[in-house]
Amino acid sequence: MFDVEVIRKDFPILSREVHGVPLVYLDSANSAQKPQVVIDAESDLYAHHYSNVARAVHTLGSEATTAYEGARDTVARFINAPRREEVIFTKNITEALNLLAYSFSNATTFPGADQFRLGPNDNIVVTEMEHHSNIVPWQLLAQRTGAEFRFIPIDDEGRLDESALDTLIDTNTKLVSFVYQSNALGTINPVAELAARARAVGALSIVDAAQAAPHLPLDVQALGVDFLAFTGHKVYGPTGIGVLWGRYDLLAALPPFLGGGEMIETVSMQGSTYAEPPHRFEAGTPMIAQAPALAAAIDYLTALGMDNVRAHEGAITGYALERLATVPGLRIIGPSTNHDRGAAISFTLEGIHPHDVAQLLDERGIAVRAGHHCARPVCLRYGIPATTRASFGIYTTNAEIDALVEGLSAVQAMFG
Ligand SMILES: Cc1ncc(COP(=O)(O)O)c(C=O)c1O
Repeated sequence: MFDVEVIRKDFPILSREVHGVPLVYLDSANSAQKPQVVIDAESDLYAHHYSNVARAVHTLGSEATTAYEGARDTVARFINAPRREEVIFTKNITEALNLLAYSFSNATTFPGADQFRLGPNDNIVVTEMEHHSNIVPWQLLAQRTGAEFRFIPIDDEGRLDESALDTLIDTNTKLVSFVYQSNALGTINPVAELAARARAVGALSIVDAAQAAPHLPLDVQALGVDFLAFTGHKVYGPTGIGVLWGRYDLLAALPPFLGGGEMIETVSMQGSTYAEPPHRFEAGTPMIAQAPALAAAIDYLTALGMDNVRAHEGAITGYALERLATVPGLRIIGPSTNHDRGAAISFTLEGIHPHDVAQLLDERGIAVRAGHHCARPVCLRYGIPATTRASFGIYTTNAEIDALVEGLSAVQAMFG
């Protein structure tokens, strides 16, 4: 285990005050704060090695390219990818999922891409607990292709209703796309089992690991999935960069999404041919300074050890569940036990709107998120307009959970 107080010193923002009191940052599921090494890595690239990548033959071009491609190696190790060429850099996970959805629809006319073609007899399966970025791209793909859009419902505890799987995932299922850890509920889903279900009917599995990558050890081979994506800013890395990983044989047959520079093999006015993965999917000038900063974030997490990260956050989440259970009128939306759940707890306070809760907590220096957390179907499922969500990271302490619970009591006192 690591020393949280030592870690906190690595994050400059954690020493600031908000409204004259020390910041209590409980919004890491929204975006995580950055350690100094990440801030330094981005600025170092700009200060000392900046140039465009892949196309310049001069020294700076080669240094920037080495840093960018080195980041690809770091990501491949982090998720245990068999090949570095399976790692594609995108703007964020939203773009990664859209990349897949648009590449699938481009398969309609792409030679050798039959396996990705969808039509009216096919269906796409997601879950009711998805972030909008793992719903809307598939709804749009369904509209473009005529495929049916289906979802696995969730139960009262915020778990997938697995009894529905046999009827929902059938021989006409082409894609099963699901979240590893829900941002709105904290639920951790049985990824390997869902991937196996997809494989059994010849469907492809796609995993939204946006909330898993910062908190759990990731091993794409052990999970047996086909595609997996995450976003840089939630793993203590910079904004503006995300990752799509895919099995090489699939990527090699998948049509491109965006066309432009660097994604081609040859171009003529009669037509173009495309580069091999990963470059086929990285059109245009990429996130040159963000890639080494993402690598710095991953190195930072790896040095802590993802098992230690999981253990620390498991303990914090357990403590928070215990303390929040003592707050009268507080209802947890999502699993109420610490089993197969991650470090984000959504709740409602009887008679008080979540936005009021968040605003009053902010006056005490406590940052939480209120709203539907871009997972509106979850709110619809429980018949609530919004929730307040407290989410934790490697720098969260029990004292911060205590501050949250005290803050909630103060909010309740204000509302009588
Ligand atoms: C589970 C999940 N998926 C996808 C996203 C989208 O991330 P981004 O906005 O970085 O693309 C988020 C962000 O909150 C998320 O929590």
